[in-house]
Amino acid sequence: VRENRLLSLLLQISETLVKNGPIQTQEELPKMFCHTLNAKQCAVYLLKDSNYFLTQHYSASTPFHFPYVVQQSGLTLSASAQYIDCQEKSDRLSLLNDWSRCMLLPFLRKEKIIAGVFLVGWNLVSELDSMCYEEQRTLQAISQLLTEIYCVFPLIDSLSQREQFLMALYQKTEQEIEKSRREVSMALHDEVGQVLTSILLQLNLLQQSDDLNYVKGRLGGLHHITLQTLNEVRRISHNLRPALLERLGLQAALEAHIKEYTDSTNIEVEFRSHNLEERIPSYAENIVYRAVQEGLTNVARHAKASSVFIHLSKKCNNLLLQISDNGLGMKKTQSYGLGLLGMEERVKMAKGKFWLLQREGQGLSINILLPLV
Ligand SMILES: Nc1ncnc2c1ncn2[C@@H]1O[C@H](COP(=O)(O)OP(=O)(O)O)[C@@H](O)[C@H]1O
Ligand SMILES: [Mg+2]
Repeated sequence: VRENRLLSLLLQISETLVKNGPIQTQEELPKMFCHTLNAKQCAVYLLKDSNYFLTQHYSASTPFHFPYVVQQSGLTLSASAQYIDCQEKSDRLSLLNDWSRCMLLPFLRKEKIIAGVFLVGWNLVSELDSMCYEEQRTLQAISQLLTEIYCVFPLIDSLSQREQFLMALYQKTEQEIEKSRREVSMALHDEVGQVLTSILLQLNLLQQSDDLNYVKGRLGGLHHITLQTLNEVRRISHNLRPALLERLGLQAALEAHIKEYTDSTNIEVEFRSHNLEERIPSYAENIVYRAVQEGLTNVARHAKASSVFIHLSKKCNNLLLQISDNGLGMKKTQSYGLGLLGMEERVKMAKGKFWLLQREGQGLSINILLPLV
């Protein structure tokens, strides 16, 4: 009878997995365990930053005590599935819940790291006592299947999502490069090229003339269009952001961009920087410049804000950027688009941290922490 229980559990899990996929199976598992094995309680803990966090629990009887966080040392874990008589060997959770029997099914990553654990507890003698060899093996198989459901499938999902996103980001970057090339080439050809040709023609005319007064009269006009061309060249180079960044540095480039932004949107921007007298590495300048550019564009497009506060500071080889607006904020259900994802991706590639903050009734705040090497 006992072996049938474990086997039927294994089959039930596999069938649910095939029918409903990993996410729904996850949801159903704790209840399924309790019912099939006549257990009292069940909890799932997943490892994050060297602590285990409660991600699911189910109880056939109350009260129960599942702390939100359990330190690694608070769970006696081995790398294989265990069925434990709690009178001999106890850990915090079995003590808290007064379990007499407990089952620990670890989710293994890279053979040794225990990425999470599935816990089942009984408060009376359970039917699984004194398992035979076959049952032990079934238990190991269940543990492996749980590893797939809780660790492998989500990993595959997030990897394929990431791949899709990287493709989209790559395409967008390519398009942007192409667009800016076209703009520069058009500006050079249509405007600068035209004016230079006209200057050349006029110079030819002047060269052929012996009338000094006529030549002097034409020089004023030539001077004027030369000045115009110079301005046009300045405008083109101004639009080639990296060059501007390279020459003037982050602070000046940001100030120039902010001025242009406020002029065209009427949104006020308060920019404060701290400890940035020296130049920072160019990869960091680029990340910050692009983040500010995208952040400000988003405020104009989505936030309905009247002002933005940008704070950039350097402390102990870390650069902290904060862009906060006083607008509507982001809806909880709203997912990232290419703008925010691209920002996050650039920050991650530089081993930095990216996070959004939002308080009730306040606008959005983008935060970036970059280590400077
Ligand atoms: N400052 C902001 N205030 C309110 N909503 C925002 C803000 N920034 C971004 N959002 C929301 O987040 C979404 C994703 O932004 P983003 O990744 O830049 O993509 P996109 O701007 O192309 O829509 C936006 O469509 C918008 O709904
Ligand atoms: Mg955007």
